[in-house]
Amino acid sequence: MNAEELRKKYIDFFVSKGHAHIHGKSLLPENDPTVLFTTAGMHPLVPYLLGEDHPAGNRLVNYQKCIRTGDIESVGDTSHLTFFEMLGNWSLGDYFKEGAIEMSFEFLTSPKWLGIPIEKLAVTVFEGEEGVPRDDESVAVWKKLGIPENRIAYLPREDNWWGPAGTTGPCGPDSEMFYYIGDAPCSHDCKPSCACGKWLEIWNDVFMQYNKKADGSYEPLARKCVDTGMGIERTVAILNGKTSVYDIEIFTPIIKAIGQAAGGYTYGSDEEKDRSVRIIADHVRAATFVLGDPRAVSPSNAGAGYVLRRLIRRAVRHGRKLIHAETPDAKLAAFLSPIASVVIDLFKGAYPELEENRASIAGELDREENKFIETLQKGEHEFEKLLPNLLKDPRKVMPGRLAFKLYDTYGFPIELTEELAKEQGLSINREEFDEAFKKHQELSRAQSEQVFKGGLGDQGEMAVRYHTATHLMHKALKIVLGEHVAQKGSNITADRMRFDFSHHSPMTETEIKSVQDIVNEQIQKNQPVSMELMTKEEAEKSGATALFGEKYEEQVKVYRIGTEEASFSREVCGGPHVDSTGTLGNFKIQKEQSSSAGVRRIRAVLE
Ligand code: ALA
Repeated sequence: MNAEELRKKYIDFFVSKGHAHIHGKSLLPENDPTVLFTTAGMHPLVPYLLGEDHPAGNRLVNYQKCIRTGDIESVGDTSHLTFFEMLGNWSLGDYFKEGAIEMSFEFLTSPKWLGIPIEKLAVTVFEGEEGVPRDDESVAVWKKLGIPENRIAYLPREDNWWGPAGTTGPCGPDSEMFYYIGDAPCSHDCKPSCACGKWLEIWNDVFMQYNKKADGSYEPLARKCVDTGMGIERTVAILNGKTSVYDIEIFTPIIKAIGQAAGGYTYGSDEEKDRSVRIIADHVRAATFVLGDPRAVSPSNAGAGYVLRRLIRRAVRHGRKLIHAETPDAKLAAFLSPIASVVIDLFKGAYPELEENRASIAGELDREENKFIETLQKGEHEFEKLLPNLLKDPRKVMPGRLAFKLYDTYGFPIELTEELAKEQGLSINREEFDEAFKKHQELSRAQSEQVFKGGLGDQGEMAVRYHTATHLMHKALKIVLGEHVAQKGSNITADRMRFDFSHHSPMTETEIKSVQDIVNEQIQKNQPVSMELMTKEEAEKSGATALFGEKYEEQVKVYRIGTEEASFSREVCGGPHVDSTGTLGNFKIQKEQSSSAGVRRIRAVLE
């Protein structure tokens, strides 16, 4: 079974069980500053898991593109990926443990679906702790279906509790399903906790019961939900008897293209080179999806753009290594974009946005790759300038602070400094380098921690107020600047709102004041906020504002501010919003500045 077949089977199965097939969302979360990327299928659904009604109903299914960067340094082995696809089904206050487990079991074991022999399966359940009992309910369902006691492992919170996706939001105990990758379990009691290490997790049913708040407390959810996640790459691998995710059909053409671009290397001939190939395959695939997203970012020195830059640069570095080993005299040319083109061909069926953005993906990759090659050349040049002095040192040790300076000032990677040093018979004082590097990391961590506040997971009152104020401001901008104003991004915390929109020149003071006055007038009028469900065609016909780039379901929610006869704003939006604008407080624009070409950014507060 290949990835395409698995996607289709999963969707078909859950549609046959009354689920609506909804579109996966952007890789770059809208309105959630707690994370840089969409990390799970549930992520775009957080507002609904917290109680909002979903226009498509209470049973949902989809496939979602995800990125997790926590293990970025481990990519290179045969199992880690940064980008992956997740299949998921959800119950929003509909079925709970019994329904979820029964459906998971049927999909995994029924010959009509995956047909996995029951002997190859084992499960884990939450063992319980103070306040939350052992999950005997799930155990009873698994046993009823035929999973024997000796294939059920009871594990603590560390293993069997999922969420929240960021720092706050829905979470709960889970029950995970494992597949045995050997011939047969190693003993009578072999289960996922067994030391044989041959149980591979393929699916997770999360029983969402709590909302983790910003203060660390857990509040019971208004309605119990189910969130499940099955990794496509891993499941396709086990269904085809592969132990490496890189051996599945969606990676084979990418790996072949890398070998070709690197001067004819054949994957499988050398362990060290294979590692480089896997790093390039993962990183180019991830970068292609980030650049091909409707909310794409460009490589930069902060946030998601920084992760993208790291992915691209690490791929370039390993590419150079491979090329150098295969064809030492080759002139270096940009080699990432032809590989990205193979990625696009492979995935454009499931993700048409990749084809739509083919040209910009190649352009961005070429630009960043060339920039990095320039950086590398500059770094090499700086190293050569230092060399005469370094060679005078009788101990032949390059001070760590100089290696750090090459890294910090020129972006020259330490591994390359080490390589150059070695060629000259020098070693590097790594301790000194590591110390300087650690200090630098602590500093940037402290800066990025500011990101981890608020977010949609924290549906605090303030976040909801800012959400409504965003609609008011969006409309006010259209009135003052013109209908060309379109939302390009929005980011809300409990302390402020940030809003990016298309407009070509800086706003004048008068324009800023007019927007502010219009919003405050609507607040003073205490306008009602109401929601209407309609088809997306109806929404479009009725002139409601919709967000750029996102795909909508058949049924959408349109939020109106004002009365039916005299509405001020109407926008397609998931919510939540306040009931009336009078509770918002005084609206103030603090800053108006450029965000990128043709895009302005406003920071505003409610006082
Ligand atoms: N959200 C759950 C996970 O990612 C299903 O494992």
